[in-house]
Amino acid sequence: MRHLLSMEGVERAVIEGLLDDGDEFLEVLDRPIPKVPTLRGKTVATMFFEPSTRTRLSFEKAAKSLSADTMSFSPGTSSLSKGESLKDTVLTIQAMGVDLMVVRHAATGAPWRVADWVDVPVVNGGDGAHQHPTQALLDALTIRQRFTTLDGVRVGIVGDIRHSRVARSNVWAFAALGAEVTLVAPPTLLPLDATTWPAATTSDLDDVLTELDAVYLLRVQKERGGASVFPSLAEYTARFGMTVERFNRLKPDAVVLHPGPMNRGVEISARVADDPRALVLDQVRNGVAVRMAVLYQLLGGERDE
Ligand code: NCD
Repeated sequence: MRHLLSMEGVERAVIEGLLDDGDEFLEVLDRPIPKVPTLRGKTVATMFFEPSTRTRLSFEKAAKSLSADTMSFSPGTSSLSKGESLKDTVLTIQAMGVDLMVVRHAATGAPWRVADWVDVPVVNGGDGAHQHPTQALLDALTIRQRFTTLDGVRVGIVGDIRHSRVARSNVWAFAALGAEVTLVAPPTLLPLDATTWPAATTSDLDDVLTELDAVYLLRVQKERGGASVFPSLAEYTARFGMTVERFNRLKPDAVVLHPGPMNRGVEISARVADDPRALVLDQVRNGVAVRMAVLYQLLGGERDE
């Protein structure tokens, strides 16, 4: 693997290898000094042309836990505002000496362009509504921790599928690992090409609710128009929200996931979000570990501890 750009087409064995490494790095993160020298001397640049809290910090924490140096780029304060092109920006940063770039961009495909221009591995940290592969890995790890496997686990991905790069990545990772995936969305929020995805579809959450082992709630992507195809957010919540009432009807050991940032009271009730069977903070923690696994894999570090 030279870059990690998409989850589509990544083989089961590759995903499992990354999750296994993720498990080992979780153990590192539990140590009193949560750090290994694996990537000493390497520099990881996080280049987020679109806002982010957890993904950027998670990559930075992952890099530092492997003893890599980090550099970060934010468009607001950069020469982008003077009109510098994406290509000139990334070539400038590469010339300073970086070993890997993590790229988030509002435009679909931007990380692929960057990968063509630079000589170092590129990780897609989320491109438009297209892909977010490390999110899929951390979610797969979180579900695997609960059920020991994804084989036969029934996962519902609920909500604004159309605008979701998380759904477009997760569906491939979950299916590759043997999960049975159902996309649950109003017809207006289901992409036309969802028929080609490895998943069933429905627009009736209550119809499938009691069969699911894991319910993956997506954020209503207001900034991408996700709220505009709905009469009101209250209507959305009534039909697709994880209310306390729906939560109480789930299988007793079923779990709830959300990539964050959550719209509490819209796709997830505040009480459900704080329940121990909502794995949101496990997801965040696992995110650091799987990103360590990805950096380790792409930078070929020595595991000497
Ligand atoms: C997601 C994203 O930015 O794609 N968040 C994340 O990375 N944790 C999901 C979202 O914004 O809804």
